[in-house]
Amino acid sequence: MHICKNANRIGGFLEDDRIKWNLRYQSDGFYLGENTSPFLAREISRIKRLAPGATALDIACGEGRNSIFLAHHGFSVTGVDISDVGLAKAAARAAMEGVEVDFRRVDLEQYEIIERYDLILNFNFLLRELIPKELMALRPGGLLLFDTIMESPQLLANHKQSYLLRHGELVRLFENRAGKILFSEESHSGEMPTARLLFQKSLNDS
Ligand SMILES: C[S@@+](CC[C@H](N)C(=O)[O-])C[C@H]1O[C@@H](n2cnc3c(N)ncnc32)[C@H](O)[C@@H]1O
Repeated sequence: MHICKNANRIGGFLEDDRIKWNLRYQSDGFYLGENTSPFLAREISRIKRLAPGATALDIACGEGRNSIFLAHHGFSVTGVDISDVGLAKAAARAAMEGVEVDFRRVDLEQYEIIERYDLILNFNFLLRELIPKELMALRPGGLLLFDTIMESPQLLANHKQSYLLRHGELVRLFENRAGKILFSEESHSGEMPTARLLFQKSLNDS
């Protein structure tokens, strides 16, 4: 995400994004639905087989659907997001389901990832500058799952272009990194064209 020229930072947080997402999350239901991302649900067996350990970071975790799913699968999960309303709903849901997740309010435009993780999720959020930091934060052999929307005429009508991946871009963003792309796909069907990728950091790269 880009910082707009008149972006308003209060206490270090990008206030425009926080307010926008708080409004979306204020309703009783779940803005992106209650269910785990189908990509994560589909890949969980492979993830558990390949991840070198069980610590996970969920980037822009929203209402926590994927963080909570990973916690149920035995991961020790940190979920980060700018929306205090989304995080409060996520924490309440985790408590109700009897799992622990470390939810933190952060502005990802400024966040330095200090800890190291075996698994990082980047779902439905695009900040290209964050990718090198995510790779740094992975342990050797660690996995990064990426799943976000691509540009299309219908999405360009109400999304900023910079928030949308271009065709072929996700693979290009990862192809020269230290590690390998285990899986990638672009799905052009439906109203939300999406690109997905599973990357494994090299075992020799710390
Ligand atoms: C489309 S939602 C994705 C939620 C979640 N990843 C999922 O798939 O269920 C995008 C999320 O990005 C968060 N976000 C937007 N700008 C942010 C920023 N600067 N720092 C941290 N989170 C941000 C929003 O609060 C929102 O929860």
